[in-house]
Amino acid sequence: MIKATNIHKYYNTLHVLKGVNLHIQKGEIVSIVGASGAGKTTLLQILGTLDKASSELNSRLEINGEEVTNMKDKNLSRFRNLNLGFIFQFHQLLPEFTALENVCIPGLIAKRDKKEVEIEATKLLDYLGLSHRLQHKPNELSGGEQQRVAVARALINKPAVIFADEPSGNLDTHSAENLHQLFFKLRDEFGQTFVIVTHNEELANMADRKLTMVDGNIKSPNE
Ligand SMILES: Nc1ncnc2c1ncn2[C@@H]1O[C@H](COP(=O)(O)OP(=O)(O)OP(=O)(O)O)[C@@H](O)[C@H]1O
Ligand SMILES: [Mg+2]
Repeated sequence: MIKATNIHKYYNTLHVLKGVNLHIQKGEIVSIVGASGAGKTTLLQILGTLDKASSELNSRLEINGEEVTNMKDKNLSRFRNLNLGFIFQFHQLLPEFTALENVCIPGLIAKRDKKEVEIEATKLLDYLGLSHRLQHKPNELSGGEQQRVAVARALINKPAVIFADEPSGNLDTHSAENLHQLFFKLRDEFGQTFVIVTHNEELANMADRKLTMVDGNIKSPNE
């Protein structure tokens, strides 16, 4: 599903990622943990094609069978819209749109039929226990509800992978637990692949594989 080879990132002279190699299988839930500043967000942004790795001779990134390393911006945006879903610490829903509209947006960007997208979005929100909140704007929802809307938005185009950066970082314990259960339910029912950066020990340990980043690289499990 994801094959990343020799990923480096420099911010000017600051060497933030130091040759990361990573393979992730379909249906796997992988957690990434590590100290603040270790490079977790930088790595997730690069895997999610939101940022570019610094060019290196044998650096490669393949997602869902496609080589994305040298894809042009326009193709990359389309690839991202169709194949990848994102969940961030702060939901990043658009405040002027309702829950339903927020979930529909990636589907409309993909130029799918509006009616079909609305039906799908309604089904997803229903599945996530939000059928009574379709017309609410983000500021009329609780933190847990906002994050579930963000999950529905991430799912609307049936992405190959969902990337999540501290998805429960802003939630109370109970809402965080619900969100974590939801990830595993989505994996069990739909084979959804997740890469999750988290400081939440419980979530990190529930994952199929827990990777620890230390100083710009993934620590090998036997270290
Ligand atoms: N745009 C940028 N320009 C310069 N340096 C940056 C930039 N973004 C991140 N960094 C630096 O790169 C390092 C890694 O940052 P990153 O955000 O990946 O850390 P992180 O592991 O996600 O940390 P946290 O757990 O605090 O979110 C940090 O030292 C940070 O200061
Ligand atoms: Mg981070």
